[in-house]
Amino acid sequence: MQGRSIAPLLLAALFALPAWAVEGNAEAAKQKISMCVGCHGIPGYRTTFPEVYHVPKLGGQHAAYIVKALEAYKSGERSHPTMRGIASTLSEQDMADLAAYYGSAK
Ligand code: HEC
Repeated sequence: MQGRSIAPLLLAALFALPAWAVEGNAEAAKQKISMCVGCHGIPGYRTTFPEVYHVPKLGGQHAAYIVKALEAYKSGERSHPTMRGIASTLSEQDMADLAAYYGSAK
């Protein structure tokens, strides 16, 4: 009897999993993009200093790609020094929010 009652619990735990994953909130990102716009520009506009160095456009990029890129800077897998410095200050929630914001901006 006791052995059987565990199965539904395990199932319920499995289905609850997605709720634990970090979900991006584009609204919350509006407090966080101030440290990005200087280089990445206003979403949908040209980058601020295209003639100094190439800054990739983030608006309209896939959210999953943005999170991956930020994680890669944070881990050192991507080596650009400025982006590494910035990404190292971002939490998983920050990354998800920023990705949701830029992912939805055209
Ligand atoms: C000092 C300028 C600067 C600031 C500030 C800055 N970035 Fe960047 N970012 C860059 C540059 C330059 C690159 C390209 C680096 C490279 O070649 O790896 C880049 C690359 C990226 C990429 C990878 C894009 C791609 O197409 O692969 C992402 C994502 C990104 N930045 C997000 C952000 C976010 C989010 C913020 C704010 C929290 C931010 N950046 C702030 C200069 C900046």
